[in-house]
Amino acid sequence: MSLPFILGIESSCDDTSASVVEGSIVRSNVIANQDIHREFGGVVPELASRAHQQNIVPVIQTAIQRANIDKNKLAAVAFTQGPGLLGSLLVGSSFAKSFALGMGIPLIEVDHMQAHILAHFLEDPENPRPVPVFPFLCLTVSGGHTQIVLIRDYFEMEVLGQTIDDAAGEAFDKAAKILGLPYPGGPVIDKLASEGDPSRFSFARSNIPGLNYSFSGLKTSILYFIRDELKKDSGFIEKNRNDLCASIQKTIVEILMSKLKLAVQAIHETRYTNFDVAIAGGVSANSALRKALLEIAAAEGWRAFIPQFQYTTDNAAMIAGAGYFKFLKGEFSGQSAAPYARSKW
Ligand code: KG4
Ligand code: ZN
Repeated sequence: MSLPFILGIESSCDDTSASVVEGSIVRSNVIANQDIHREFGGVVPELASRAHQQNIVPVIQTAIQRANIDKNKLAAVAFTQGPGLLGSLLVGSSFAKSFALGMGIPLIEVDHMQAHILAHFLEDPENPRPVPVFPFLCLTVSGGHTQIVLIRDYFEMEVLGQTIDDAAGEAFDKAAKILGLPYPGGPVIDKLASEGDPSRFSFARSNIPGLNYSFSGLKTSILYFIRDELKKDSGFIEKNRNDLCASIQKTIVEILMSKLKLAVQAIHETRYTNFDVAIAGGVSANSALRKALLEIAAAEGWRAFIPQFQYTTDNAAMIAGAGYFKFLKGEFSGQSAAPYARSKW
């Protein structure tokens, strides 16, 4: 039996992306980044919506061309319904609705954070990989979210803990801004950290009970430390940039991992070993986080799942792939489907 072709559209933040999957196999994944935000040191929502409007038609055309199929072969169109910037989501969702109507195919709404997790199930026939087995835990870390999620089934997910203030990606981006590095700061810190000493500086971290996270204390600690050092030596950042990046990255990774470890202990006293633990979202591209998960998993007896690098940061393949699982269940949405800015779960 042939697998359905699904078109996925992602426009929740500042990347316009379209993808065609055949079942879970990615046939194309096109991403147009919006460089315009760089000069403002963060995403400007109004500019993001405008850029999505300009990018969406060529990005979708390219995704269909690269998949090498006729658009009449598409069985459904999946789109990011939320969470994200409302103006950005409206561009993708409106396009998806018109496309579904015009082509006479079903429309599928997808939650962005669920899609980050389900990216673990995307397949590449040239490079087959094992997939996590339900139930598994996923640390979902992006620019807007930091959640420890228990995944019982494709769309049966429970958030066990989450940040009460900044997300992990935001912590990277804000720390980068303090150091005068460009936006988005996460990948820049990752790169510079590879040349630095992670134990050179230490920063205060908030200690909150349970499985929730807090990153605002770390940000304040970095801010005050840098302010004080700059008073003594105006060249402090320049002279210590790599060590600062490595130390900040180490602190964020340690905060993330300590709660993840607690979560595995808390939910699986009886099945602590051979348990599947994954990471997902933009920050799961971070080299230190990927390494830490593999090391802790080896020590604790978990099976670790690191997403393929190209499906860590925002992409439409994860939306199309999640759409495929909804397609199998016959879970379609109507033309009244409205985007949502904040997480629904
Ligand atoms: O999932 P994502 O692409 O967008 C959201 O859904 O928010 O995540 C973007 C976040 C940004 O904060 C970015 O700095 C961070 O992911 N990020 C990284 C790395 N690559 C992206 N953070 C640390 N290290 C990286 N290599
Ligand atoms: Zn994301």
